[in-house]
Order: sequence, then structure tokens, then C-alpha cells
Amino acid sequence: MTVIPAKLLLNWYACNGRDLPWRVKGGAHPNPYIVFVSEMMLQQTTVKTVIPYFERFMARFPTVKDLAQATEDEVFQYWQGLGYYTRARSLLYTARKVIEKYNGYFPQNIKEIAALKGFGPYSAASFAALAYNLPTTVIDGNVQRIMCRMYRLTAPLEQIQSQIRAYAEVLIDKQNAADYASAIMDLGAMICTPKKPQCPLCPWQKICLCANAADVEQIPQKSKPVKREVSGKVYIIANKKGEVYIRKRIEKGLLHGLYEFLWTEQGDLIKSATDSGLSVSHIFTHIKMMLEIMTVQIDTYDGDGIFVKPEELDIYPMSTLMRKVRMKALKK
Ligand code: ADE
Repeated sequence: MTVIPAKLLLNWYACNGRDLPWRVKGGAHPNPYIVFVSEMMLQQTTVKTVIPYFERFMARFPTVKDLAQATEDEVFQYWQGLGYYTRARSLLYTARKVIEKYNGYFPQNIKEIAALKGFGPYSAASFAALAYNLPTTVIDGNVQRIMCRMYRLTAPLEQIQSQIRAYAEVLIDKQNAADYASAIMDLGAMICTPKKPQCPLCPWQKICLCANAADVEQIPQKSKPVKREVSGKVYIIANKKGEVYIRKRIEKGLLHGLYEFLWTEQGDLIKSATDSGLSVSHIFTHIKMMLEIMTVQIDTYDGDGIFVKPEELDIYPMSTLMRKVRMKALKK
């Protein structure tokens, strides 16, 4: 009897797959809007972190129409803390596009899906598989690791992308693309983990060339990205009334549209400010950022920002870095 790897995986998934709030199993038809929101949130963020954000978001924006009618500030409110805020802006943009151009229905072919803002090759493939059961090959870090181990591909990842794709394409079950995509994600998250993989529990252990091998954790071979270290200053400017100065970031880039205290990567913005002795640090994708907190009392600041009461700061969406500054400097 020939064993079909996809069947082994799908059987394992039917019994062991995770129940996730955005997931339907066994070939059921999901709501594409739910798949869309979850896939946007899951880019660069773990399932555990995403779950509470997803639940709050869906309670406030249950349909694509509700989202399309929201303001950017409100969407940021619900995204605040998830990081990578460009995703939130794209999410809103695409929701509006789906209403205006597609009458409220997400397109069902990979070309049009991939053309929507916020989708990259990975998320377009995974949306197409999960929402419409289209037989796409979804390749993320999990799938790369699984393929490298299954076929003992030991060269650095950058050199073997096409080999990985070829193997991944052969393995998928074209009739059950949605369950297959979810199943392989779960295999990577629960069994074929980067550290301490659970080979004895793996549905593919009989065919995997690295199953139970001593060097399995060393595969795939990865080169670590170098993180740039940036240090700067952030200013808590307070007026006589105890209000603090914040501004909406207009500069293009990761944090565009979010509110922030005044900060700089270089030199001094306000010479009369005092060093509070406090600092915060935060890791963005390739940057380790460290900001010293400076304090200063002045009643007007010649900039594009506003003075607000500290207890009203909650209504202004801020990045995690700036919320750390707020907690450290204002204790609220
Ligand atoms: N990572 C990306 N998409 C995912 C999904 N739908 N479920 C679990 N992890 C994911």
C-alpha cells in the first residue's frame, strides 16, 4: 500500500489540529472576511498574541462593511500593541476596496487577491487556500523548516528556495487545500518546532529524513539577521496644567498615523530638557531602539502636536514603544 503523505497529515490534523477562533475544519466554508482579518494579524505575529486582538476586533468590526466605515484612528486603537501598523492601514484600505470595487465580496482568484493591499505572496496564497480552498502552495517559515527536515536539505535557506517550493508543491492535497494549509501550520507550530521537535508524535516520521536525528535542531541552516542598535531621546513635555505634548506621526514609514511623544534618534531637540534617568528599549524587526526619557516644562511648543491630559491618552493610538515611554514616565 502506498502511503500518501498528505493523507497522513490530514488524519493527524483531524484529531490534533488546533481549534482557533478564525478556523473552520473538515472542508467547511469559512467567512472570507474572518480569514482576511486573521491572516493580516498573523503576519509576523504569533497565534497566542493574535487571539485576544482578533476577538476584540471582530466584536467591534463583525463585517467587512463595519470595517470599511471605520476611521483609521479607530482601527489603530484596536491594533495598538500588535506592531507593524502598516498592516492595519492596509487592512482598512482593502476593506474599503472590497466594498467599493467588489460589492462587499473578496475576489476569488489568486491574481486579484495578490493585488489587494496588505497581501504578499505568502498571505495571498494562504488566504486563497483557507478562504476558497484554492490549491495554492503556502510557504512560510514553518513549511520551510518542515521541507528541509523531511528531505534533509542542509544548505543555507537562501540557496534552496526553489527546491523547497518544488517539494512543498508535490506534497499538498489539491482537493483539501484549506485543511492541508492549516494542518501544515499546526505541524510546524506543535510538532516540527525549531527547538525540541516532537518526532515520535509526527505523522510524517516514517518518511522524514531527519526524524529523531541528533542534528534535527540544526536544520534548516539559518543566518541570523544583524540588528542595528539605535539610541535616542524622547521628550515628555508638560505644561503648567500637567498636560503632555503628543503629535500624530506624518512621516511615512512603519509608525505613520500613530501618536507619539516628541523623539529623535540624534542630538537634542530641546536643550533645556532634563535627563530623567529613565529609559525604554524596544525591538523592531531589524532595530534595537533605546530611548532616554527627557522631561521639560514649557507651556507652548512650536510644532504640529497638541497638549492632552495624561488620563486622556488612551484615545490616541500609540506604538508599543511609545506606550512603554508613557508607562515609564507617567506611570499610567
Ligand atoms: N499563521 C498564518 N496564518 C495562520 C493561521 N491561519 N493559523 C495559524 N497560524 C497562522
